[in-house]
Amino acid sequence: MAAPFIEIKNVSKKFKNHNQEFDVLKDINLEIQKGDIFGIIGFSGAGKSTLIRCINRLETVSSGTIHIGNHEIDKLSKKEMNLYRQKIGMIFQHFNLFDSRTVYGNVAFPLEVSGKSKQEIKKRVIEILELVSISDKKDFYPGQLSGGQKQRVGIARALANNPDILLSDEATSALDPVTSLSVLDLLKDINKKLGLTIILITHSLDVIKYTCNNMAVLENGLIAENGSVRKIFANPSSETAKVFIKNNSDLAKFDYLGGGAVI
Ligand SMILES: Nc1ncnc2c1ncn2[C@@H]1O[C@H](COP(=O)(O)OP(=O)(O)O)[C@@H](O)[C@H]1O
Ligand SMILES: [Mg+2]
Repeated sequence: MAAPFIEIKNVSKKFKNHNQEFDVLKDINLEIQKGDIFGIIGFSGAGKSTLIRCINRLETVSSGTIHIGNHEIDKLSKKEMNLYRQKIGMIFQHFNLFDSRTVYGNVAFPLEVSGKSKQEIKKRVIEILELVSISDKKDFYPGQLSGGQKQRVGIARALANNPDILLSDEATSALDPVTSLSVLDLLKDINKKLGLTIILITHSLDVIKYTCNNMAVLENGLIAENGSVRKIFANPSSETAKVFIKNNSDLAKFDYLGGGAVI
């Protein structure tokens, strides 16, 4: 197999609060290949967001290393770090758009920060709004958009600087199931068209099943298991995956349209 694009080795993260130490990530080892849509699933508080924040260096690891391509990200200088950040797009559950900027202005923002000319910005914004199918809303403000449309803008903004990696932290959790599917379809489409590596954090098994090829289960700061989605669904070994899969099949027994159990 090719060398992994992202290699997380023996990563631990401790937080200190009120003179108490919390081990939030414990000896995490993960390999993510270029072009993967890699799912990370776990209960609330398992450490998913902390792990993703270590990958984009919003947090520094307490020990261990994270390699992306040829770079060890904890060794980057400030200047290298700024360039590195441009190569990592991130989308969030609550979209985190600027309310006072239009759709165009939101997507233009990261390009302004990276010093692009007005002309370059215009070309890129138009191109990327087209890619996420939201060109017709270019002059709208976030307050005038639906949740699904806001997330499309979030994705467009994350892709503006042509990143190598897209990090998604519960990006479809605030959306209804149908809108959620259309956003996941968009992510799959972008992964295919641009060869973008996506790390997708979620507490929904359906999201993983629909979108990811490989996955890891995070349990109290530990990787409980990881591998192909197919393998883990067929034969889950971790408590978390078993509980998720059992609850999922229990839910499937309910006929929501009829409002009752079908068996
Ligand atoms: N800055 C922080 N200081 C102290 N504890 C934190 C901090 N950030 C997160 N934690 C703790 O780390 C644990 C994991 O949090 P998080 O990564 O947000 O989990 P998840 O995204 O899986 O819900 C939680 O117990 C949380 O309270
Ligand atoms: Mg979280």
